[in-house]
Amino acid sequence: MTIGLYDSGLGGLSVLQAVRALLPDHDLLYLADTAYCPYGPRPIEQVRERARACAGWLVNQGASLVVVACNTATSAAIETLRAELPLPVVGMEPGLKPAITATRTRRIAVLATGGTLTGNRFHHLVERFADGVEVQTVACPALVEQVEAGDLDSPRTRAILADYLAPLPAAQVDVVVLGCTHFPFLTPLIAEMLGPGVTIVDTGPAVARQVARLAATHCVQPGVGGLRLATTGDPNHMARIVPQLVGVKAGVEQAVC
Ligand code: DGL
Repeated sequence: MTIGLYDSGLGGLSVLQAVRALLPDHDLLYLADTAYCPYGPRPIEQVRERARACAGWLVNQGASLVVVACNTATSAAIETLRAELPLPVVGMEPGLKPAITATRTRRIAVLATGGTLTGNRFHHLVERFADGVEVQTVACPALVEQVEAGDLDSPRTRAILADYLAPLPAAQVDVVVLGCTHFPFLTPLIAEMLGPGVTIVDTGPAVARQVARLAATHCVQPGVGGLRLATTGDPNHMARIVPQLVGVKAGVEQAVC
């Protein structure tokens, strides 16, 4: 029995890492939809079509539980996938609730893709949980590219980040939510730039706990702790970047979907 995860690219590997830490004996299958990366600027209908294709591919390959390890895809397609697939589907959303609990200045920021920040799900999340806290949104499309290239700490990545983060200190933001699964790979840099007074919220570990709960209730049994990686893009490129992101060397298959 396999747990299938997918993202537009390599970002969802941050979620895979959290799942692996909790369920080391489960077999995992990860699909990077690199041929269509980034999802952020794409029309919602296309991201939904890709969700059908990617989740369908995971199910055909034997997944018994699907994790949409992408905030943008969750925003566009989680209801569709849950309605159409006969198995549990776990999604991602920016960790607004923990951020609202943690803030003392009552000012937080959410870093995500344009697709996530303009989606209805995010608006409902703010309406439901903001409780008067000021929520500043920062669309950070260029960071997705940097992570896809494995460029986690270079003068260019630093310059891009510095630009996105520049308004936050003056706005007295004391909690920053990573609302895109690519961004946890930049946590050390973000933390360094924002300084120790700012809390960074990543929902990967909470999503992993939800995956563990659903795996237990739906009898998704442990296997041998196997890991299969696949991409709709260039397997050689992905195989080069993966060790840098998750510290594991693994072969990458070509997925057609
Ligand atoms: N990793 C994705 C997310 O969590 C999206 C990045 C992109 O493809 O634009 O939103």
